[in-house]
Amino acid sequence: MIPINKPQIDDEERQEILKVLDEGILTSASNFGGKRVQDFERLLADFLHVKHAIAVNSGTAALHASILVSGIKESDEILIPSFTFVATANSVACTGAKPVFVDIEKDTYTMDPLDLENKITKKTRAIIPVHLYGHPAKMDEIKEIANKHSINVIEDACQSLGSTYDGKQTGTLGQMGCFSMYASKVLTSGEGGAITTDSDEFAEKLRMIRNHGMVNGYDTRIIGFNMRLPEISAAIAKTQMTKIQSMLEKRTINAEKLGQQLAEKIGNHNNNNDVVLPQENKRVKFNWYLYTVAVNNDRDKIRKFLNDNGIGATIYYDPSVHQTPFYSQYHVGKLENTEWASKSVISLPVHPSITTQDIEFMACKFGEALKT
Ligand SMILES: Cc1ncc(COP(=O)(O)O)c(C=O)c1O
Repeated sequence: MIPINKPQIDDEERQEILKVLDEGILTSASNFGGKRVQDFERLLADFLHVKHAIAVNSGTAALHASILVSGIKESDEILIPSFTFVATANSVACTGAKPVFVDIEKDTYTMDPLDLENKITKKTRAIIPVHLYGHPAKMDEIKEIANKHSINVIEDACQSLGSTYDGKQTGTLGQMGCFSMYASKVLTSGEGGAITTDSDEFAEKLRMIRNHGMVNGYDTRIIGFNMRLPEISAAIAKTQMTKIQSMLEKRTINAEKLGQQLAEKIGNHNNNNDVVLPQENKRVKFNWYLYTVAVNNDRDKIRKFLNDNGIGATIYYDPSVHQTPFYSQYHVGKLENTEWASKSVISLPVHPSITTQDIEFMACKFGEALKT
């Protein structure tokens, strides 16, 4: 099977892990984290051109910590898309705040600024746009609405490390950005995450929150948890940071080739715009975490055909969050574009291990799938 994503691990990561084991310091409960945690944080902050990066042990923890540091209280409302991985909603709900679901735009799969504005109430305290598949959300419009209502923007950049909006890195455009280093992501440490911010005050508190609210030993000052990133994970993450640029470049090359070949194969079948390929534009550049196509007919049949032919085509996400048994209690009514997308999207792999032959094979089989 050609996997939908594949960690890019080689000898440099292995050597760095062995060094951690030899040194014998596997984690650090100091306020600033272990040696490799600090190395990783510096590399990430430099890459993103942001003042602070705070490493944590998952993207979910990054979101949870950002919500806590924003001073969100029970029954406050946080606006999120429903077309996302459920972690976005879980991080809100676990604080006692209410996730309010906003529809997406059909062309970007990200938060629709018009629906966002409609959903703002006196209780709204934060907006969490998600740069799904590495497609940047419309940050200008979202920030304008947030500023008008004095609301914080926390970017869920868990899938978008390296994607840019008007030349700026996603995850640095709001008050905070949250990243995931889960095994499938463009940069991985197995499990892991990070929060980025230009605010000294948020950074100081986030370092406390990841470490049980402590600063100097057992002096808990605010609520916190164990969100610390272990040194072995940080060793992988910091090594991955040194090759992030080349990993992203390979994804871009693969996505361009796949796009060209798919366009050729689907040409005759696309009179009614049945298949929509992902498009960058002048303002947005993707990290190509996934190559996500919308197919208006027979999506599940096409996915099965591709899987049967050894292509790890995957659907992210069906059902969407507001349609799950738990979150349907939070939402009444339809989210038209979200529900369309959950029944139409299909993602193909373009990770750095994908070869030219894989791309030709995937495009060919996709063309065949449309005919069957
Ligand atoms: C959009 C989105 N948000 C949040 C998360 C949560 O990240 P993690 O799995 O590292 O907790 C993920 C990753 O899986 C994600 O894709």
